[in-house]
Amino acid sequence: MTRKLFVTTALPYANGNFHIGHIMEYIQADIWVRFQRMQGHQVHFVGADDAHGAPIMIAAEKAGKTPQEFVAAIAAGRKQYLDGFHISFDNWHSTDSPENTQLAQDIYRALRRNGLIYSRHIEQFFDPVKEMFLPDRYIKGECPRCGAKDQYGDSCEVCGAVYAPTELKNPYSTLTGATPVMKSSEHYFFQLSSPRCIEFLQQWTQDGKLQPEVANKVKEWFATDDSGAGGLSDWDISRDAPYFGIEIPDAPGKYFYVWLDAPVGYLASLKNYFDKGGPKAKYGEVRSFEDFIADPEVEQYHFIGKDITYFHTLFWPAMLHFSGRKTPNNVFVHGFITVSGEKMSKSRGTGIDPLKYLSLGMNAEWLRYYIAAKLNARVEDVDFNPDDFVARVNSDLVGKYVNIASRAAGFIAKRFGGRLTAAISADGEQLLATLRAGAAEVGRLYEEREYGKAVREIMLLADRVNEYVDQNKPWELAKQEGQDARLHEVCSVCIEAFRLLTIYLKPVLPALAANVEAFLKVEPLSFADAQRRLGEHVIGTYQHLMQRVDPKLLDALFEPPAPAAPALPGGEAIAPTIGIEDFAKVDLRIAKIVNCEHVEGSDKLLRLTLDVGEGRTRNVFSGIKSAYKPEDLIGKLTVMVANLAPRKMKFGVSEGMVLAASHADEKAHPGVFVLEPWPGAEPGMRVR
Ligand code: 2FM
Ligand code: ZN
Repeated sequence: MTRKLFVTTALPYANGNFHIGHIMEYIQADIWVRFQRMQGHQVHFVGADDAHGAPIMIAAEKAGKTPQEFVAAIAAGRKQYLDGFHISFDNWHSTDSPENTQLAQDIYRALRRNGLIYSRHIEQFFDPVKEMFLPDRYIKGECPRCGAKDQYGDSCEVCGAVYAPTELKNPYSTLTGATPVMKSSEHYFFQLSSPRCIEFLQQWTQDGKLQPEVANKVKEWFATDDSGAGGLSDWDISRDAPYFGIEIPDAPGKYFYVWLDAPVGYLASLKNYFDKGGPKAKYGEVRSFEDFIADPEVEQYHFIGKDITYFHTLFWPAMLHFSGRKTPNNVFVHGFITVSGEKMSKSRGTGIDPLKYLSLGMNAEWLRYYIAAKLNARVEDVDFNPDDFVARVNSDLVGKYVNIASRAAGFIAKRFGGRLTAAISADGEQLLATLRAGAAEVGRLYEEREYGKAVREIMLLADRVNEYVDQNKPWELAKQEGQDARLHEVCSVCIEAFRLLTIYLKPVLPALAANVEAFLKVEPLSFADAQRRLGEHVIGTYQHLMQRVDPKLLDALFEPPAPAAPALPGGEAIAPTIGIEDFAKVDLRIAKIVNCEHVEGSDKLLRLTLDVGEGRTRNVFSGIKSAYKPEDLIGKLTVMVANLAPRKMKFGVSEGMVLAASHADEKAHPGVFVLEPWPGAEPGMRVR
């Protein structure tokens, strides 16, 4: 029976490029998806950018962009990673889309009709300068226990104390420095604690579908103590304006919290794909998105990291179920990727930069193979170990598998005109039968996401083939009189065996498999092809299929972008290396300070009027009041960033930035030094 599968990976926040953790998840899901396609199943594999939320809104503002522009710039960078690592999404969309707005609002309305939405007032920190409620991560202050300064609102990095943001002493907003005030506002809640929700989720999470360790974790979340405390809490799903998100119906100024509309983005991307006619073109699927997604036979799976289990095993199924929709068939949870045993940071990633990996000319399929070899169906972290990487790729992948083809193909071409023989004797038939019989086990392991075991199984089969080669020594047969038929047979067995191993490895190595298909002159291989044979088939010329890894590449991959130099006089390490093209993006110009004055109400800023030879002047605020008197600066030349996005400040718009030097720790080493060109420079000249 043809299965109909809807598969997703977690939607990445659109405030940064992919790191190796994203790529690992995509590789895991992509292998599964490619395996299912090779079984002849219908698969719709979609992703999207998770565009909303306060951090993205604030990052956009800092970059001088609208959130939409900011998110679009990130989205434009996705393709090179996805193509580079052969991730075969059928569609990539965004949660900031009409489809998602419609679906999120529809789901909300249905939940409300179902009596699971209520509102109440809550008190929260509010930044009176920015006029917005502050997410905890934007509040700092002094630790209530040890008094350490500049601690976040949840815990102290110095003494380890854990507390609420309201307990901080002298709290301040990291956005403006202002002292936050407590303010009340109405919030909307999803009543996760209602008995019918709990009952449904107990059933949904404990019916055996989830990975055992995931089901156990969820059980802990349900647990209440003797007094009835603990257990699931209601979920605050609203945020106040200003917020980059989707408006809540009938609640002016209120937006869905990003995590409400994020998983809905799975559906939005699928809908977008259906509306574009993707499934029709690919599979002749003529139904609408709504018909398809409501079909009980359609299976829905989400690949996610362990850190977002709560959202995907509690909120998401409850949202779907109580809005009258079908729930996911399963959620596949994986661990993190560590590098040589070190945990990575979610925002910065690890020492492995996926783009650097590609730009060094490293083969994406080495990584796919290595990750596959390390993955299992449990929620275990995967460790990237450089030596292990080199060993597995060179000894297993190239040494055991690729070499089979290179050892046999030459003789078939030179001695037998490229034609294979179908006259195979018992030992060859036995080997091929063993390999064919492997299809079921390998298939089962892929299906269960036991890729490490699948790869091991395939390599054991490759060992059998290599034993056969070593027993028959084609290179010696080739020199012996009267051994032509045996040489032909042995090499034909090797090529057929190589074809079978290629089928098994194809979910992991799609590009290599495509090259093998071209070399063998066969149609794209599916799992069913394992039960067929090539017979007297004419194959093409062998071209080298895969290089070994040069261990030096790993050194280059892990070489830090720039040496950390804590002892620099400025107290700051040199920033990561950039190319000349990055530098060229910064348009530095000689500027004449035609006027300079104090800014009323600011003890840091001076207002500069600058001429950069444009036939108009620019207004620039600069934090140099502590070091210069306005009259010292008027008439002087300096250097400014002329293509910095204009920034709206409290005192007006700043149209650029003047260059000045200072120590990283300005308090301990006061002083600001404005740059001045040597005599002869003129306003408007470019600094390069
Ligand atoms: O943790 C994250 O990176 C989230 N952006 C994942 C969202 S998954 C889904 F819900 F969209
Ligand atoms: Zn402390």
